[in-house]
Amino acid sequence: MRIDILTLFPDMFRGAFENSILKRAVAKQLLELHTHDIRAYTTDKHHKTDDYPFGGEAGMVMMIEPIARCIELLQSERTYDGIYLMAPDGKPFVQSKANEMSLLNNIILLCGHYKGVDERVRELYVTEDISIGDYVLSGGELAAMVVTDAVARVIPGVIGDGTSALSDSFQDGLLSPPVYTRPADFRGHRVPDVLLSGNEKLIKEWKFEQQMIRTKERRPDLLQDL
Ligand code: ADE
Repeated sequence: MRIDILTLFPDMFRGAFENSILKRAVAKQLLELHTHDIRAYTTDKHHKTDDYPFGGEAGMVMMIEPIARCIELLQSERTYDGIYLMAPDGKPFVQSKANEMSLLNNIILLCGHYKGVDERVRELYVTEDISIGDYVLSGGELAAMVVTDAVARVIPGVIGDGTSALSDSFQDGLLSPPVYTRPADFRGHRVPDVLLSGNEKLIKEWKFEQQMIRTKERRPDLLQDL
């Protein structure tokens, strides 16, 4: 899979892409990540990427021209299965969307900034808007990192243990059960006996029960969706 990210701040992605799962996915050649500096696609001498909104209002709007130039150059090189705009008024990003996107070949993530992007970018290029939550970030970059990470980790082969991504919270619509590791006793706080019992059936039942308890307590809305 190939992900092209269009941003005014390509340096922000370094730390996120050069560590942990994303680094591993790239090293295994299961994922290609490319950032593109939108400013490099301006044609005026001041490298302007934003301007005042028509009709007034505070804040600046990202201009369509550099974004269009960058997208069209990429589209001349390969076909894209989706062009996603990171925006607070987008569709809420959920696990099933990450799973679905992980099956695509080439996608573009466009990071918005300031007051937003000229609406014609949405009309002409964007296939879907994505929001990572009901709050406003300073830009779409952190959202694009979140989406990239969530998508990359479900690409088959990225996580060593073939089943672990599928047992994450939300994959079955429930939160994950609590997990423990050594020591079995930390200052008198013991790991639940059942996990040390070696009885696979009982462990499985306990885990499911814990998932239900957690989900009921913390995210009852998820149970209504089942
Ligand atoms: N850009 C600013 N806020 C955002 C959000 N919540 N989700 C995605 N992109 C954003």
